[in-house]
Formats: sequence, structure tokens, C-alpha cells
Amino acid sequence: MIIAIDGPAASGKGTLARKIAAHYELHYLDTGSLYRAVAYEVLKADRDPNDTSAAFSAAELLDVDRIEHGQIRSAAVGQAASVVAAKPEVRAAILQIQRDYAARKPGAVLDGRDIGTVVCPDADVKLFVTASPEVRAHRRWQELSATGHPVDEAEVLAEITERDLRDTSRDIAPLRQAEDAYLLDTSNLDIEAAFDTAVGIIESAKK
Ligand code: DC
Repeated sequence: MIIAIDGPAASGKGTLARKIAAHYELHYLDTGSLYRAVAYEVLKADRDPNDTSAAFSAAELLDVDRIEHGQIRSAAVGQAASVVAAKPEVRAAILQIQRDYAARKPGAVLDGRDIGTVVCPDADVKLFVTASPEVRAHRRWQELSATGHPVDEAEVLAEITERDLRDTSRDIAPLRQAEDAYLLDTSNLDIEAAFDTAVGIIESAKK
């Protein structure tokens, strides 16, 4: 079974996808981590994320099983990830990695921006997880504050709005809901309620 979960930054799709993968005993891939890992390598080499050849070389060398998850969560890497993710060369290299991962047995949950539309258009179930920009900014602010990174909530909202714009307006594989995806708005749902709703959708799609 392949489950595709897309949505904007800080929509809660990652937490949800991880819980769904554990529940159904499927592999889980956070595809944003692939773009983040490419961006991290580019920044580490002191290159510019706008430099296509630097970003492409990093994408070609990417190993999905050796991502430095501890290093890639910063806001700076997130912004650079959204820059490298707009490059067709980088997306092409990462596309195959994602499809190979989706083919792992007994199945996989992939979360990202274009899983239901481009990476796995034949996924068994597609969810599009969203929440209002204010709710998403508040959640990200809480997360960052809890991990000892005090930030201004208005700044987090501005960053989220900027990333939404870049992710939805790029020419290649922009963030959008697939026609056959279920919309799950988590603005007024906590993670347990979102999980229960998602499992209900998956169960009825399996029938
Ligand atoms: O989900 P995230 O914040 O870790 O994603 C980082 C960036 O990667 C995001 O700005 C857009 C990009 N991305 C993408 O273009 N396609 C995906 N499938 C996943 C992420």
C-alpha cells in the first residue's frame, strides 16, 4: 500500500504521516528531508543554493538512508531547501529516489508537496493536509520555543507565508491538492483527532 500525504509547511503532515506509517507498519519517507539534505550539503560546501550545478551535484550524491536528520531542521536550511526544490534538475534526481522508496515492501507512506500529483500519482490513498497560515505559524512557534529556539511568532508567520508562495507558485511540481486527494484541514483538530480522521479515510478507501 502506498499512501501519499501532501500539504504546506507546518501543516502537521509529518507527524500525521509518521503515525499512519507506524499504525499500518509501512516505511515512512519525509521527502522534505531530501530537499533539506541537498540544501544542507550546498550550504556546508559554502555554495549558494541558487547555484544549480552545486545543488544538482548534491542531489546526485544523496543517499536516502544516510541523511543527517539532526543537521537539517533549521529555518535557514528550510529556506534554502525551498530554493533548491524549485530547480528541475534537482527534482529529477530526487524523483527516482522517492519512487524507489515507494516501491519498498510492504509499502510506504511518503509526505511532501507533490507526492499525490507527481511522485506517486497511482497511490492507494492521497491526503492533502492543511491548516490556516496563522495556526501553522503558531504550531511552528510553539515547537521552536519548546526546543530552546525563542523566535518571534510574526516572523515565523512571515517565513511560512514566503515559503507557501514559493512552493505554490513555482513552475515545476507546485504544491497543490491532487484531484483525487482527500482534504484534511487540521486548523481545529489536535493530532489524535487528525489521526482518527485520516485512518477513517484510509479504511474507507481500502474497501
Ligand atoms: O516539508 P519541509 O519543510 O521539510 O520541506 C522543505 C522544502 O522542500 C519545502 O519548502 C518545499 C520542498 N519540498 C518539495 O518541493 N517537494 C516535496 N515533495 C517536499 C518538500
